[in-house]
Amino acid sequence: MKVSSSQEAAPQIMADALVIGIHSDASLSGNAAAVDEATGGAVARLIEGKEITGKANEVTPLLAPSGVQAGQVVVVGLGGAEKFDVGAAHRAAGSAAKHLAGKQRDKVAFCFDGWTAEQTEAGISGAMVGCQGQDLYRAKKDRHPIGEVIWVGDDAAVSSGQVLGNAMNLTRRLVNEPPQEIYPETFAEEANKVAAATGLDIEIWDERKLADERCGSLLAVARGSVRPPRLVILRYNGGPADQKPLSLVGKGVTFDSGGLSLKPSEGMSTMKLDMAGAASVLGAMQAIAELKLPINAIGLVGLVENLVSGDCYKLGDVLTARTGKTIEVLNTDAEGRLVLADVLAVAVDEGAAKIIDLATLTGACVVALGMDVVGLMTNDQDWCDTIAEAAETCGERAWQLPMFPEFAGQIKSDVADIKNIGAGRWGGAITAAKFLEEFVGDVPWTHIDIAGPAFAEKPKPWVDGGGSGAMVRTLVEVARGWK
Ligand code: BES
Ligand code: MN
Ligand code: ZN
Repeated sequence: MKVSSSQEAAPQIMADALVIGIHSDASLSGNAAAVDEATGGAVARLIEGKEITGKANEVTPLLAPSGVQAGQVVVVGLGGAEKFDVGAAHRAAGSAAKHLAGKQRDKVAFCFDGWTAEQTEAGISGAMVGCQGQDLYRAKKDRHPIGEVIWVGDDAAVSSGQVLGNAMNLTRRLVNEPPQEIYPETFAEEANKVAAATGLDIEIWDERKLADERCGSLLAVARGSVRPPRLVILRYNGGPADQKPLSLVGKGVTFDSGGLSLKPSEGMSTMKLDMAGAASVLGAMQAIAELKLPINAIGLVGLVENLVSGDCYKLGDVLTARTGKTIEVLNTDAEGRLVLADVLAVAVDEGAAKIIDLATLTGACVVALGMDVVGLMTNDQDWCDTIAEAAETCGERAWQLPMFPEFAGQIKSDVADIKNIGAGRWGGAITAAKFLEEFVGDVPWTHIDIAGPAFAEKPKPWVDGGGSGAMVRTLVEVARGWK
């Protein structure tokens, strides 16, 4: 999808559709007023008749109106003017785009009024996300990317908005691809393509290298599958050579059957989503490189399939992780933390200044916070606050869970240093994070459990169901503030 900016008056733009925005509590102004006037007051009449309310993400098409060059006008609700922010802009533009993407359109003009550069950027990424669906393998598509988008207004944010939209759509596509297509080797190939296109340095560790590097915890999980594991390291060097990198770590379980602690079919059916953390890291690294941020960043993703085989890891096995710590396995479905244990240790060894990991780690986090809020857990409050603020700026929902020392007692093992599950299900998101904390040394670290938001079972007005690209914009926001 190509986006270019324009200063043309909205009524004069030749396009399949014009999109204008209306607040629920403000009068028509700018482009919206100009379109209303050109159409002889058609918009105002619909507002008068309460057909258009301006409620957030309400989409009202006016087909073939006279007075404008475009074939239709789409009026999208922006909600209350006071509450309008970056997240609202992302969702509103996405709602209009998703509606229009129901059919093939060559050219659509978005004509919003008075949006800041940040809102414009979020709006463009929202529009791009809104027209990419999860119907990858359907002959008859639900969503058709708009051929050409004209964004009326400030052009400063047009290219960065596209970078963010492309990053989110990359993450979403990788999550939406079926697990027979995306497995450790093919994910690594995708990362290779991104690296080649953006100039990122890439290093791919295969199973032999992983053994040489003593990644015994990750390798134990991988043994259940005939598909070999990979660890991908992406390096972006935009900052001073002596500056330690911001490190982004992702869980890349390309399919999670649960292993011998097998999941029931219902819980297993969406488990292609279990590489969403890795896909978010790849999306964010692509965006960081394309934005040419003046920082050093490194992305590390651990890629395995958690399956069952004659040689798969068992309950009672004791693994030795890269750090030398021993782990008693009491549930093979708590595999994400075993993978991350080694990837986090590599991040530390690579000289991370600070670490963020993203993982679809626990169902317990979804129980605690629901489908639309990620959980934050940390060993460094300032670092966690930085991430929470970035999420707030982007309109992404994040909430911190406590890391009280009492929780650590739950992962003590009788036979090894630690075990891979807590005592019972309670506080499961936190006991998982406590496990991860064992592998980051004293590097400031924040764990983001994205098990809820990474994948939507149902569509939203602004985006189809499936992979969501959650936290990609937040990661880029953190990188932009990185010093
Ligand atoms: N990948 C799952 C977590 C998950 C669940 C992600 C639902 C998205 C939606 C993870 O590997 C897992 O199975 N966790 C177990 C941990 C338990 C065995 C301690 C869980 O949450 O049940
Ligand atoms: Mn699992
Ligand atoms: Zn998992």
